[in-house]
Amino acid sequence: MLQVKNLQKAYRSKQVLHAIDFAIAQGEIVGLIGMSGSGKSTIAKCIMGLDKPSGGDILWNDQSLLKWSARSSWRQDIQIVFQDPRTSLNPRWTVRRSIAEPLRNYGSATEARIVQLLLEVGLDERYLNRYPDELSTGQCQRVCIARALALKPKLLILDEPLSALDVSIQAQMLVLLKQLHLSQQVSYLFISHDIAVVSELCERVLVIEKGTIVEDTTAIRLISEPKHAYTRKLLADTPTFPQFNQ
Ligand SMILES: Nc1ncnc2c1ncn2[C@@H]1O[C@H](COP(=O)(O)OP(=O)(O)OP(=O)(O)O)[C@@H](O)[C@H]1O
Ligand SMILES: [Mg+2]
Repeated sequence: MLQVKNLQKAYRSKQVLHAIDFAIAQGEIVGLIGMSGSGKSTIAKCIMGLDKPSGGDILWNDQSLLKWSARSSWRQDIQIVFQDPRTSLNPRWTVRRSIAEPLRNYGSATEARIVQLLLEVGLDERYLNRYPDELSTGQCQRVCIARALALKPKLLILDEPLSALDVSIQAQMLVLLKQLHLSQQVSYLFISHDIAVVSELCERVLVIEKGTIVEDTTAIRLISEPKHAYTRKLLADTPTFPQFNQ
């Protein structure tokens, strides 16, 4: 479905991504982990068309995303959820309006569809007229996920979607993401620092170090036989995996 080929990005003289190659098949959940500044969000921005690659190509069902106009239909197919749900929502908009907005652009913002989306993320019609500051951070993130799912995307990019949430809320959100993957038949590119969360949610994991993918493997193999020194360091830094901490 998605193919990232030899993707490169430089900001002025600073090379942030070096020849990134990976693919995501329909229905897959792929994790992307690496330290702060390693280039994870830059990959997400390039896929979303929010940033322009310096080289390489990004294909969506064999068509280059870099050549299509901004209003092409693939924009519905790939959606993104960011780390901080409060800054992703307009504080002056009700939940109804935030979720209706993407639907309105494509002509199907019915009340029934908005409520259906709220139910899918574990909220209900009581939230329709609320504003972001009347919601918890976790509820805001649920609204952001509902908004991202409104146009029935095939791929959802989740850029550290749990980092702003309390640990107990993180566990609930993981359950929700697993449910939505099944009910919505949507693939995820799940970006995280947290190797424990990634290994629980993802089938395949990419490890990025300083703009280079150093490991592309199954979640099981990542934990049982990490190949790269950097992966072992990430594991050692994770309290769940003390066996690597020596
Ligand atoms: N607009 C920009 N202009 C200049 N440099 C940038 C820009 N955006 C990102 N960078 C740099 O690119 C590098 C990669 O940033 P990126 O945001 O992709 O990292 P990340 O892996 O998402 O980190 P984090 O885990 O902290 O979110 C960093 O060194 C960052 O400073
Ligand atoms: Mg980032």
